[in-house]
Amino acid sequence: MQEKIIILDFGSQTTQLIGRRVRELNTYCEIVPYNKMPLDDPSVIGVILSGSPFSVYDDKAFKIELEKIRGRWPILGICYGAQFMAYVNGGSVEPAPSREYGRARLTVINEANPLMHGIALGSQVWMSHGDTITSLPSDFYTIASTAEVAIAAYQAREEKLWGVQFHPEVYHSECGMQLLRNFVVDICGSRQDWSAASFIETTVAALKEQLGDDKVVLGLSGGVDSSVAAVLLNRAIGDRLTCIFVDHGMLRKDEFKRVMADYEGLGLNVVGVDASKKFFSELAGVTDPERKRKIIGKGFIDVFDEEAHKIADVKWLGQGTIYPDCIESLSITGTTIKSHHNVGGLPEKMNLRLCEPLRLLFKDEVRAVGRELGMPEHLITRHPFPGPGLAVRILGDITPEKVRILQDADDIFISGLREWGLYDKVWQAGVILLPVQSVGVMGDERTYERAVALRAVTSTDAMTADWAHLPYEFLAEVSNKIINTVRGVNRVTYDISSKPPATIEWE
Ligand code: XMP
Repeated sequence: MQEKIIILDFGSQTTQLIGRRVRELNTYCEIVPYNKMPLDDPSVIGVILSGSPFSVYDDKAFKIELEKIRGRWPILGICYGAQFMAYVNGGSVEPAPSREYGRARLTVINEANPLMHGIALGSQVWMSHGDTITSLPSDFYTIASTAEVAIAAYQAREEKLWGVQFHPEVYHSECGMQLLRNFVVDICGSRQDWSAASFIETTVAALKEQLGDDKVVLGLSGGVDSSVAAVLLNRAIGDRLTCIFVDHGMLRKDEFKRVMADYEGLGLNVVGVDASKKFFSELAGVTDPERKRKIIGKGFIDVFDEEAHKIADVKWLGQGTIYPDCIESLSITGTTIKSHHNVGGLPEKMNLRLCEPLRLLFKDEVRAVGRELGMPEHLITRHPFPGPGLAVRILGDITPEKVRILQDADDIFISGLREWGLYDKVWQAGVILLPVQSVGVMGDERTYERAVALRAVTSTDAMTADWAHLPYEFLAEVSNKIINTVRGVNRVTYDISSKPPATIEWE
């Protein structure tokens, strides 16, 4: 049985990061909403309570019946999780005199405590809370402090129940990984047997069992997720998997040809469909970003559906959905910033059952699985690329000519990043075609042509991102090359906005 840690999500922005950290300890974990604890699951070995944007005394605060888990499994509460357990057991939690954000150092540590083994005095920890625990329940005791926060960590006497008011999961907490290791491995007793190889072995066996002799269709995008899902399914059912790769005409330069060659090299059974004419005609004159996305999403479904119907007796739709796409998120504000689900609605329309072999993996784990499956490195490390492609990087309406200009400029930028050894240092990069013309001079001629923006960001999950601090010499070279060789462009700018408040894509 695959043992697991359960992370109860109280809505913190760092909940996913806790999950990733536990997985880095080769331990399988699942993030579930705070009120969905799988009480009857025999494979659970420990429970972590996440942070939350609420205060424990807030009317809207998420609450659980702690008695249902207390004593059954070791528990670690992080931030709100720690405050909640202290509060419901008779401790006090109050607004901190000054909000406690950022770095702090541990000034007192009970080194004999199993949670604190190997953690050095003076270790930096990351605080982020507006409340603080001012007194503990009588049967709890303090095991670490900082200069500002007396009760930085505690344990309940004679019980496997701990709380920490800092965030061990964030990179700035130097001792964070050690603390999580102490909890997951020493206290919960994880066997640490979760790895890419073990995942492939169990998943291929499970897919064989689940799919039997059935046929599966899968939409490939050229990205790492759908590619790894395809290779995994191919391992399990061979030629009974048919992959469909739709060219909507807004891919990168030569990408369709290159990716098709890659897929064929991997032994996949791929149908490539050039549907660019259809997409260009449906998008003609459309300027609204969300409408562009909707048109492409629907067009994609139509083409895919038509192709899939050419294969007899298909029962399943394979998808490269990964864990961050599925975590049932506790949307506190409920706002959608952009609609990212390009193929939502496909399984219902086609009356197919869904098969999502990567739905439990984080992005870095998908890459590890791809490597273990022997896939080429350039496919695995490929930057994320939006489903609607260059359509959301051409501000305003779309024409084949604008796509040509953008493809050429983008190709110069991306090839340059590779040549300069910068490609793997950024999370993703691309060029945006602006709806702006400006005056320039070339030779003796006055020009009045388009401006493009280069965009390159660093990130770990696309939720937040910073603009990449690329060398000036590199930017100068790319700018010169674009202006000198891409007809129709006479000005290049570099986007220096972070996310938030900007987003990675411009539309
Ligand atoms: P934003 O622009 O929201 O992008 O900061 C975050 C990540 O999502 C990608 N993205 C999309 N991916 N369909 C997709 O499949 C879309 O409509 C879409 N919009 C943005 C973006 O490239 C970045 O990696």
